Amino acid sequence: MPATPPLPVDLSGIRLDPGQGLSRQLYQALRERILDGRLGSRTRLPATRDLAALLGISRNTVTRAFDQLYAEGYVEGRVGDGTYVAELSTARPVPQPPAGPEPGPALQRLQNHHLPPPVTGAPRAFRIGVPAFDLFPFETWARLQARFWRKPSPARLGYGDPAGDWALRELVAAYLRSSRGLSCDPAQVVITCGAQQAISLCAQLLVQPGDRVAIENPGYRAAGHAFAVAGAELCGVPVDNDGLDSTALAQVEDCRLVYVTPSHQYPTGVTLSLARRLELLEWAERRDGWIVEDDYDGEYRYSGTPLAPLASLDRQGRVIYVGTFCKITFPALRLGYMVLPPALAESFAQRRALDMRHSEIGTQAVMAEFIAAGHFQRHVRRMRLAARARRDALLRDWPEAIPGCAPMPSVDAGLHLCVRVDSLARERQLVDAARAVGVEMNGLSEYWLETSSEPVDNRAGLVLGFAAVPEAQIAEAIRMLRRAWCL
Ligand SMILES: Cc1ncc(COP(=O)(O)O)c(C=O)c1O
Repeated sequence: MPATPPLPVDLSGIRLDPGQGLSRQLYQALRERILDGRLGSRTRLPATRDLAALLGISRNTVTRAFDQLYAEGYVEGRVGDGTYVAELSTARPVPQPPAGPEPGPALQRLQNHHLPPPVTGAPRAFRIGVPAFDLFPFETWARLQARFWRKPSPARLGYGDPAGDWALRELVAAYLRSSRGLSCDPAQVVITCGAQQAISLCAQLLVQPGDRVAIENPGYRAAGHAFAVAGAELCGVPVDNDGLDSTALAQVEDCRLVYVTPSHQYPTGVTLSLARRLELLEWAERRDGWIVEDDYDGEYRYSGTPLAPLASLDRQGRVIYVGTFCKITFPALRLGYMVLPPALAESFAQRRALDMRHSEIGTQAVMAEFIAAGHFQRHVRRMRLAARARRDALLRDWPEAIPGCAPMPSVDAGLHLCVRVDSLARERQLVDAARAVGVEMNGLSEYWLETSSEPVDNRAGLVLGFAAVPEAQIAEAIRMLRRAWCL
């Protein structure tokens, strides 16, 4: 068992971005906690060595942050007796922003449903949700960009179609037909700023405050937040080896919208079975409801034929299909798409027009060219092979018997996997010790709704992204884990 000594104070929530100045960030995080009272006067700060180990940074970095706090009077040192928060009267007053009017319900909902800050900096093992950036053909992309901007057609420089560039919509429709067996008209395709905007548009247009929305539990919290901010009451539906439990869904009364990740459930990694797909479509018909199908990493299938998307089985115009380019290129591209039942396409485009008019033309035009010239399909193949090789490296080197940890599952799809752990306390130990040596991973417990009735120990697990870094870095990260976890 790792022997991480308990810290005398709660410093949870300090996240440092390795791409920025670490000691400055630590100084700011501690100063903020001193000013808002989370670290009260006379509190003893952890020893620099312990804090450095906890945060996975060097002791010098911690010392520099402490020195700055000392110089500004926020902490005091006692020789041989550690560092203490100074009496509050000697610290600077907290500048209070003016309160302004009482926030209305929409603002309050937003304040209650914040996304955690994104993990930034260069990819590290086992970052979740990012593909292999190192393989993107930037030279080709740069050439296509330069060609577009050297002499853009004036016809494309005015206000464009809020549903997106027509050439790109045609190519997306053709791609979905050939790669997913999803037949649709380009007029049903709306280009978005990634899958998240597509989900958020569904929340804005299909949900009234007070409506019940069913989401997978555990599931993709950012989707839940988008529905909750629109005023939905979130109803978590359990997930088993066949995906979302359709019997449990049928028991959620007065609910007409469900959000699912059928190809590769986020985060457990299971695939929604064909029987469940058909049950879900029947549910939507009975309830006169909607299914939001998030196919965020559908390109990554390593064995077996992928099951038909719900949208391709839908005969009643009840499924909204959501896809993204961000998991096959890189998230910062912010480009995705949705395929809507014909009756909805115009309204979704209108909603986008009110938000932002339309997406920037350069990225759309270059993506269209990237697909038309065959680069996209080649890149998808390369990415699938790379992700499979990285998955294999993780499965091969992963320690066989980790106390409290289930064996690795078989992984047929996606960019991450999920290993069950037998208690929440053990999950925390494993995740904290990994983060302390600079290895990223998430606890499965972070993906559950706060209102879950599931016993906390059943919610525990490790979620590991395997595609972000090459095999050698995966092997090195596992060596670090073996040491950190005392295996
Ligand atoms: C299940 C799921 N859906 C959607 C997204 C968001 O994708 P995008 O970057 O295209 O907005 C993510 C990102 O991690 C995801 O995990």
